[in-house]
Amino acid sequence: MPPLHKHRGALLLASLLTLALAGAPPVLAADKEPPPRVANGLAKTPPMGWNSWNKFACNIDEATVRRIADAMASNGMKDAGYEYVVIDDCWHGPRDAGGFITYDAKRFPSGIKALSDYVHAKGLKFGIYSDAGRLTCGGRPGSQGHEFQDAKTYAEWGVDYLKYDWCSTGTRNAEEAYTLMADALRESGRDIVFSMCEWGTAKPWLWAANVGNLWRTTGDITDKWDGKHGYSLGVLPIVDANEPLHPFAGPGHWNDPDMLEVGNGGLTDTEYRSHFSLWALMAAPLIAGNDVANMDEATRAILLNKAVIAVNQDPLGVQGRRVRDDGDLEVWSKPLADGGRAVILFNRGAETKPIAVDWTELGYPATLKAGVRDLWAHKDLGKMTGRFSANVPSHGVVMVTLRP
Ligand code: GLA
Repeated sequence: MPPLHKHRGALLLASLLTLALAGAPPVLAADKEPPPRVANGLAKTPPMGWNSWNKFACNIDEATVRRIADAMASNGMKDAGYEYVVIDDCWHGPRDAGGFITYDAKRFPSGIKALSDYVHAKGLKFGIYSDAGRLTCGGRPGSQGHEFQDAKTYAEWGVDYLKYDWCSTGTRNAEEAYTLMADALRESGRDIVFSMCEWGTAKPWLWAANVGNLWRTTGDITDKWDGKHGYSLGVLPIVDANEPLHPFAGPGHWNDPDMLEVGNGGLTDTEYRSHFSLWALMAAPLIAGNDVANMDEATRAILLNKAVIAVNQDPLGVQGRRVRDDGDLEVWSKPLADGGRAVILFNRGAETKPIAVDWTELGYPATLKAGVRDLWAHKDLGKMTGRFSANVPSHGVVMVTLRP
């Protein structure tokens, strides 16, 4: 038998000859561009759900996930749009003899497929976590070298969402690594939302719109208002890093400033309201990160504010941005599909201060009459022309919608 490459050469020659005879210009295989990658059609609005990491870290097991799914199905979260139940790091067992990933049988005795079935039976969707390197950030097996095998396993388990981390990747090229897993997920035949978690290191907003559905823009969030804490960041530095990236977000591809800390206890309720409002206005994924089966009333009122969620889920899919920055006093705006605006007056300072917004800062004529609704007071404030102003508490927001 001739060596394979000779065989291929003969084939190529034959096809060139056929093309030449047919009058078509010869095209060498190597000159062909791959077909452009198109979006997977998922996450037309920012994904909503719950993830285990912020509250439970590696201390996660099937009983906890079931308890969370039960709660979400019955406490109003599912009705409010929270959909994905995502297990983050540390569910893994070793790879088997064939290289297939297994689960930690002590923590997940019924197996991942049974857990996924359970979540689906609650009318929710199921997500899981892996990593583009040899090891996950928690030291479990990563997917490097097993991408297609893992995607196939996830599809068999009924996975609807994959968060894909970036630890132990050495010198890997992020675009290549994430594109490889994106291709593997498509090849699996199942609709799987692809959440890219490489912390903004390789600027995924520049290349990932058709690769993943969301990409982390910063290091990990921690349950603090401000500052850097090792590798992790408080709410304010994350807001400031994510805001300028607004032009890159849109239906199917979102900037991800990390999961919510609402309800985890490190911030005041006023600060959690600001955190949630800004995430909603920045069209960020709303992934709760607290124990949603044990929420106090204030936490519930934040996570279940349907008017704020509607701003986040608005079908126009524009990431809102800061339109004025007067030091500690800021105005943020997000255009809505019906021509309205969501507006946040945000006070970073230590005392209550009045903040005003002029219609012209929102792209409206000063003469326009608009109905103003306060989304946290749950109150219509009447029709106003040209301007709106309110007293805003320290570290707090006033969030309104304007409807011409
Ligand atoms: C990284 C990610 C986090 C979380 C942990 C899990 O730090 O950025 O969101 O997934 O890994 O180990």
